[in-house]
Amino acid sequence: RTLRIGLIPGDGIGREVIPAGRRILESLPSSLNLKFSFVDLEAGYGTFQKTGTALPDKTVETLKNECDGALFGAVSSPSTKVAGYSSPIVALRKKLDLYANVRPVKTTAGNSNGKPIDLVIVRENTEDLYVKEERTTETPEGKVAEAIKRISERASFRISNIAGEIALRRQNIRNGSANPTRDQPMVTITHKSNVLSQTDGLFRETARRALAAEKFSSVFVEEQIVDSMVYKLFRQPEFYDVIVAPNLYGDILSDGAAALVGSLGLVPSANVGDNFAIGEPCHGSAPDIEGKGISNPIATIRSVALMLEFLGEEKAAAQIYAAVDGNLDAAQFLTPDMGGKATTQQVLDDVLKRL
Ligand code: NAI
Ligand code: MG
Repeated sequence: RTLRIGLIPGDGIGREVIPAGRRILESLPSSLNLKFSFVDLEAGYGTFQKTGTALPDKTVETLKNECDGALFGAVSSPSTKVAGYSSPIVALRKKLDLYANVRPVKTTAGNSNGKPIDLVIVRENTEDLYVKEERTTETPEGKVAEAIKRISERASFRISNIAGEIALRRQNIRNGSANPTRDQPMVTITHKSNVLSQTDGLFRETARRALAAEKFSSVFVEEQIVDSMVYKLFRQPEFYDVIVAPNLYGDILSDGAAALVGSLGLVPSANVGDNFAIGEPCHGSAPDIEGKGISNPIATIRSVALMLEFLGEEKAAAQIYAAVDGNLDAAQFLTPDMGGKATTQQVLDDVLKRL
């Protein structure tokens, strides 16, 4: 099988880590029978300054018409509003209907404060308060601002369905590094339906229905009110497996969860639709370390594996995860954000060797 992958490095260290991701794909063991072709694509603030748009049509069209998946680095956002500029990754999610944002957070034996964390946040990515339908009204008592929180059965169903599928698949991919305290896949539905009985109520009900399907009979389904979810996530992160949430709660939970494992340079994500997946490290363009050759490539390498998972290549993904875990556990080649002295290249070489 040959997969065509769009490479969108973007700005800053995106240009350092995306080439590392490409090397991983090029170096997969030949026993996997997987080949890749690549197409370099533009997006980001640099692209905006050059061309007047952060996301050229050509990038979108090439992804749609030619590619099976993509890797996205990071983009810089100006700290003050610049006319005409808007985030290309947000636009890409819309244009390609990438309705799920998937963020695994995991420790390894060598990279944990004692608690083995191995969870995934699955965030709905198309609706909720982020439909951005807001308005402000002048009243005799002063201004009042309102926003629409839109929750649909369709979006709630498909996000819960994919969360269930991820829970099942994780059982296959974990290489003996599964949390030993848990022997059954689990999905935790997060909501606030005790207060928002219609919107979050619909999310909760629909998630329950989606996860009651026969194919998920081996999945344990539980639920948490979002505030207590935050408390438990920080007290007892080792308890969780897959957490599914509407857009806003998922946004907050996924950044919070990333803080559980130390460096941003470790945390991958994927933007997933029915026919496409974009792997994307969670970090930004890191201007403070740009050009020094010390950016941590692990978040990107894990994003490569995550993309492959969603393209149906679980075996390849599992091998990449194992190689990364091996690198972290050996702790011989770590970049400065992890307390080491290694360069991006040395970490990449070590992972490639293990692969
Ligand atoms: P950042 O994630 O770029 O950096 C935060 C801190 O983490 C910095 O000290 C950086 O050196 C470190 N760091 C991040 N990734 C690392 C890696 N791979 N290896 C080693 N250290 C790493 O976030 P910051 O500084 O808030 O934002 C910088 C720029 O990135 C801004 O323009 C911001 O808008 C943009 N950004 C873009 C994101 C995206 O493309 N998805 C996400 C977050 C920020
Ligand atoms: Mg966020």
